[in-house]
Parts: sequence; C-alpha cells; structure tokens
Amino acid sequence: MNKIICACLMVLIIIKQSVQNVVINGPGLKPDKIVMPARYFIVNFTSFNDYTTDMGKEFAVDIHGQSYTSNHCRVWANKLDRKDGTFIIRYKVYETCRELTINIYYKSKHIAGSPLQFSGPIYADHCNCPERNIDKWLNNYGCKDSYKQIEKDLKQFVDVDMNVQIKRIIDKHHRPESTSFCHYVVKNNQIHRDCYGKHVGFNMFSDNILLYLTRKVEMPDMELVINLGDWPLARRDSDPLPIFSWCGSDDTLDIVMPTYDITESTLENMGRVSLDMLSVQGNVQRAWAAREARAVWRGRDSRAERLKLIDIAREHPHLFNASLTNYFFFRDKEAQYGPKQPHISFFKFFDYKYQINIDGTVAAYRMPYLLGGGGMVLKQDSPYYEHFYHSLEPWVHYVPVARDLSDLVQRIEWAKDHDEDASKIAKNARQFANDNLLPQHIICYHAVLFKEWSKRLVSKVSVREGMTAVPQPSSEPPCSCNPPDHQEKRDEL
Ligand SMILES: *[C@@H]1O[C@H](CO)[C@@H](O)[C@H](O)[C@H]1NC(C)=O
Ligand SMILES: *[C@@H]1O[C@H](CO)[C@@H](O)[C@H](O)[C@H]1NC(C)=O
Repeated sequence: MNKIICACLMVLIIIKQSVQNVVINGPGLKPDKIVMPARYFIVNFTSFNDYTTDMGKEFAVDIHGQSYTSNHCRVWANKLDRKDGTFIIRYKVYETCRELTINIYYKSKHIAGSPLQFSGPIYADHCNCPERNIDKWLNNYGCKDSYKQIEKDLKQFVDVDMNVQIKRIIDKHHRPESTSFCHYVVKNNQIHRDCYGKHVGFNMFSDNILLYLTRKVEMPDMELVINLGDWPLARRDSDPLPIFSWCGSDDTLDIVMPTYDITESTLENMGRVSLDMLSVQGNVQRAWAAREARAVWRGRDSRAERLKLIDIAREHPHLFNASLTNYFFFRDKEAQYGPKQPHISFFKFFDYKYQINIDGTVAAYRMPYLLGGGGMVLKQDSPYYEHFYHSLEPWVHYVPVARDLSDLVQRIEWAKDHDEDASKIAKNARQFANDNLLPQHIICYHAVLFKEWSKRLVSKVSVREGMTAVPQPSSEPPCSCNPPDHQEKRDEL
C-alpha cells in the first residue's frame, strides 16, 4: 500500500518537474502590449525530452476570447514544429478581443503556466490605436536601444536640413528611367509622400511599414527619402546624401533598412506571403542527419557567377544540386546553361545540408530564410549587404566563399569532412536568425532607425504642397481604442 502511494508520488513529482521545464517566450505572450499581424511565441521542450515526431501530436494549443460584438472573437492559430524540440505558435487576431485565453497542453494537461489570461483589449493589426509615448512602446516591444549598423549609417548626418537635401537628391538622382524614390513626410502621425521615377510600385512596401508603425505608436515628425530600387545610390566620393535603401554596399553610404522582402513577410505573416521567418522553420522536413550532404541552389541568371556555379556543379554532381530557373540577363547563354528548371519550394532547400548564397543584382534577399531554415550557408564574398550582415561572423554563422567561387568546391568538401562543425554553423545560423530576424526584430529595427533619424533633422517638418496622403486601411471590424488618458490611468493603478 505504502509502496503504491510512494510510486504515485514519484510519478507526480516527475510530471510536475517536466511540466516546469517547458519554457515559453516571445512577443505573442504580451498580446495586450504587442500588436503584430501575426503574434507568435516559442514553446521549448528541450530540457524535458529529446525530440520525437510524436511530441507534436501530444502538444496542443488553443487560443480563444470574446469580442466586443459577439461571443467569440476571430482568432486563427497554427503550430510550427521546428523538429528540434521547440515549436512556434503563431496566431492572428482579426478583431479586438477581450478575455483572451491561451491554453497550452501536453498530453491533455496544462503546461508552462497555462492557461494564460488577458482581459484586453487585444487589438487586431488593422486597429489604429497608437501608443503616445514611443519610448514606452519600444520598451514594451522589447526593442534594443541601438544598433551598430544604424549608428554607422547615421554617423555622417548631423543637423540635417531636409530643404537642402531634398533638392540635392532630386537634382542628382531624379532619372525616371533608372531610379525611383519617394520623399516621405510623417507629420502628426499621418503619412504623405511624393514619388519620383517610373517604377514607383514598390512604394507599397515603404508605405506598409510606415502605416504599420503609425497605427501602433505616435512616431516623431520626420522627413525622409526612400530609394525604391535595389542599387544603393549615395556615392561615397561626394558629400553624402541621406537616402534610405534596402541594400547597402561598400562604396555607398545609403542608410540601410531591412529589405522590402523580409519586411513584407513580417507584415504579411499568416497573410499573403507564404515564405517568412517563422514558416521557414516549421516547414523544414528533415533534421540535419537526414539531409543530403550536397549543396543546393536555384535562382535566375542575374549575375555571371550564377552561371559559373552551374559549370562548377556540372563538374561535381556529387556535391551539388544547382540549376537556373530563369533567363533574362544572359538569354544568349540559355542553350549552354539550360534548359531552365522549374522552381522548387524554398522549403525543399533544406532537404540538403548546404545552401549557397550568391548575389543577384545586389545582395540576395533570401539570406534571412537560409539562416532561419537551419542550413549551413555558403556565402559568396560581396560588397553588398543587408541591415544585419555586419553582425554575422564567418565560420560562426556561415562559411565564406570567394567572390569568384574558386574555393566553393573545397568549402563543400570541408563541410563533408567536418560534419559536426558544419552542423554547429547551421545551428548558430538559426540561433542568429531567431535572435535578430524574427518579425519583432524587423519591426524594432525600423522603429529605432526612424526615431534616431528624426532626431537629426533641424529643418521644420511640414507636408509639402501637392503631396499625396497615404491613409490607413479601413478599420473594420471596429477597434474601439482605449482613449489615451484612460490608458494612462490604468497604468498608474
Ligand atoms: C531551448 O532551451 C534550451 C535549454 O534550456 C536552450 O539551450 C535553447 O537555446 C532553447 N531553444 C530555443 C530555440 O529557445
Ligand atoms: C535536384 O533537386 C530536384 C528537386 O528536389 C530533384 O527533383 C532532382 O532529382 C535533384 N537532382 C539531382 C541530380 O539530385
């Protein structure tokens, strides 16, 4: 009898312990403070169990709440299995919710402090309910105070008179056939712009991030020029022009923003975009050991080294699966390098251990997804960079490859001979991505960059004649923002 009680107690203790060892974290656990198109958090089982595919079956999450107009608010949640004992839960709130409950179960039992309850309001992304104090907002969102790249980019700009700079930029770069850019004014948290050039369709990306931010927080008044093309514009050899670009290079001084690609995948998470920093982790099919020890690459013919890669791959078929998917720049070479191959799902890249990153016209904007997918990235040496490249370390987060690809084969052979090192680099890459490139980080980078930029302006910010207003999307279903003074009072309580 005593023995049985004793055994039961042991079992209870073990269950209790394992339950305590599940760690959860992420911005989706502060839904009342952090509003994202898709909120997300991470559930980490690694200290309690080795990963098995069954883990995902035993683990369940249920998120529900009430709406202001009906009983249930519309929430959609999904679970992404990273196949390493950690899961990403992401959920989209379609209308303002109250009494939101997050239930997290393992084998039908609550774990990790579940149920988590939030009285609300929990705003949907479309709600135009900006927090008044940007510092408080940055703090709520867990943003860093500063970024090395931002400091470096803004160093050369002090006491900026935009009246002068706008003229200089238009004089120098208004060439409708080759460059397109927009002059934005953010005044009283409203967005206005004038765009120049023939191809201004990409302003939807810069509009979207500015609209997102101004719905969430009262941004300081500011004025800036955003380059809508791939190539950075501000030459080093002249008095620097303040131009914001998606790609930087060693011979220019553009102020670098996260690319339109990763920004859009942040803002369209669980929406229009299927490849994003969260989905790429949940859709990888194979753990490292089960992946093929070859390097994979697909892409279009936007740079000569991409053709050279095909030559190298043909000579070493046991090390590569590489092909071109489109001919545009080197159409005359299609017979030699073709026929063009169909696209493969990006997620299939991670059936292989090694992924190659070769510049396209500028930096290849797939880099964040390659890092996040947990592959060992072979990165071509390049003068082009995205906002985070200077934080990456060769041989820690990726394996460097000469610009002319002359050591590519040798690098892959090294990886095959040093599987443990290669897998460590892959792990570090994913860790880097999770610490720096998730939606929360992309949002923070923009917010900190724009805030720091606004501090450098000495000219009065005013909406110029003839500018186009960029309105917020419709606020349906209605959001019922807390009046700001009401918010303040609640914080004091
Ligand atoms: C999960 O927890 C383990 C052990 O506590 C830690 O080493 C690891 O970095 C965590 N993983 C993630 C993705 O947070
Ligand atoms: C290369 O990858 C594609 C897509 O996964 C596959 O269909 C093809 O068989 C592979 N080719 C080789 C030579 O392994």
